[in-house]
Amino acid sequence: MTAEPSLTQTAAWKALQSHYDKIADVHLRELFATEADRGTKLSLDVVGLYLDYSKNRLTAETISLLVELAEASGLRERIGAMFSGEKINVTEDRAVLHTALRAPEGSVINVDGENVVPAVHAVLDKMSAFAAKIRGGDWLGYTGKPIKNVVNVGIGGSDLGPAMAYDALKHYSDRNLHFSFVSNIDGTDMAEAIHDLDPEETLFIIASKTFTTQETLTNAHTARLWCLEALKDDAAIAKHFVALSTNAEEVSKFGIDTENMFEFWDWVGGRYSFDSAIGLSLMIAIGGDNFKEMLAGFHEMDTHFRTAPFEQNLPVLMALINLWYNNFFGAETQAVLPYDHYLGKFSMYLQQLDMESNGKRVTLDGTPVDYQTGPIVWGTPGTNGQHAYYQLIHQGRKLIPCDFIGFCQSLNPLGDHHDKLMANFFAQPEALAFGKMAEEVKADGVAEFQISHRTFPGNRPTNTILIDKLTPGALGKLIALYEHKVFTLGTIWRINSFDQWGVELGKVLAKRIVPELSATSEPLLEHDSSTNALITRYRQLKRK
Ligand code: F6P
Repeated sequence: MTAEPSLTQTAAWKALQSHYDKIADVHLRELFATEADRGTKLSLDVVGLYLDYSKNRLTAETISLLVELAEASGLRERIGAMFSGEKINVTEDRAVLHTALRAPEGSVINVDGENVVPAVHAVLDKMSAFAAKIRGGDWLGYTGKPIKNVVNVGIGGSDLGPAMAYDALKHYSDRNLHFSFVSNIDGTDMAEAIHDLDPEETLFIIASKTFTTQETLTNAHTARLWCLEALKDDAAIAKHFVALSTNAEEVSKFGIDTENMFEFWDWVGGRYSFDSAIGLSLMIAIGGDNFKEMLAGFHEMDTHFRTAPFEQNLPVLMALINLWYNNFFGAETQAVLPYDHYLGKFSMYLQQLDMESNGKRVTLDGTPVDYQTGPIVWGTPGTNGQHAYYQLIHQGRKLIPCDFIGFCQSLNPLGDHHDKLMANFFAQPEALAFGKMAEEVKADGVAEFQISHRTFPGNRPTNTILIDKLTPGALGKLIALYEHKVFTLGTIWRINSFDQWGVELGKVLAKRIVPELSATSEPLLEHDSSTNALITRYRQLKRK
């Protein structure tokens, strides 16, 4: 059997490389000048999301070459394999079925010969009933008081999704309830979260797929102790702790009745899980109906991704444009810049989704890759970033492709805030694309010595995503868009976007160090000389 040629040796890749050599230096000014309707032609209006990708350094030919690459990579078949429950997560021998979490009732998706959709809906119903009880004040704490505070304890996918989505959909949340999200093993996170809370009115949601994660278990034990110190009876745990997990055995070992466990399955990856039971805190905040609307949004994007031709397929197009910069222009990062304050944690959420998924260096069969894979994803909501790091995006030497995300309607229409926000939202991609040339700066009467400093080269690529309003459905669509974008890229790069072995080594080493830090007599340190010295210094100083 002859080995598959490296991706960079395929005809589709080589065609893109020679196309790149031709158009790499073409300026967006020129592209817009030669194509009068570029701004509307290079746009997509699907499932309620409008994408303007005209301010990218590409032509119609680039898109068709990129689409050929996607076709050649077997993307169509891979999409089919994922949606139908094939075990495409080969290193863990698992199906990848977050799309089943939002499949409508009555759908049939089989894993190992069993339709998983009825179980998904049974858990959603159980979550809805529980959320309604908390929201209605009908779930009483151990001393008979209704729950006022909900603390989600989890990390990674068991934290970032619900924490991001809670902020994103806060407008729809029950303001009589207080929510916090504890993730860090730093005791400060838990200490601050419980500082002003009354244990009699507090519910802890322990969210962990494996229920073995050091951070979450440590935080959960601390929360348990805090509760028991006040309530003085183990029986109180049943009223103040619930678990979200795939691991019933560990949940009951911890002391949570599995009656109070909301289940999900090993075919849901951690970073793809907030629309599973992991979203319980969010559902309590926004209610079962809003949660369902969000799932419907996810599903709409799933269907679009599964069925639309690649040229008109939002996640595929965004992935291909990202690949164009990542692999041909050598861009190292991707900024995601939401112009909505509610999306304050969106980029943080995307960091796990994208970088844990596509931060890989070998193909599915273990061969090292000779091309770049996942980008560094970063960003904060506009307009704050404009007064921090946009300087570098405009005038620095690095090429930073940006996704701008904005909404036509404000959820908080205060005076003219929204028009001003959106004016910035439209102005930034315009400035980045077209810049301001030296002669234009000079024509403004700028002193000679300042001209080069005040010149903007432009030709900085952006996508603009414009959505009517930040609703639960819109959030679902947006998240599914990025999920499928990541999947598309992983497929073309031939990597497994669904494992995360890269996080293991640090975990193992930390476990070995814990007893060395707490030992009362001097431990024998057998690390490298740097780590040994650091541990020794820490041990000396922590006692002072
Ligand atoms: O960071 C590694 C990781 O396994 C993530 O993939 C996951 O979301 C997180 O840890 C938390 O895992 P768990 O939900 O099992 O506690």
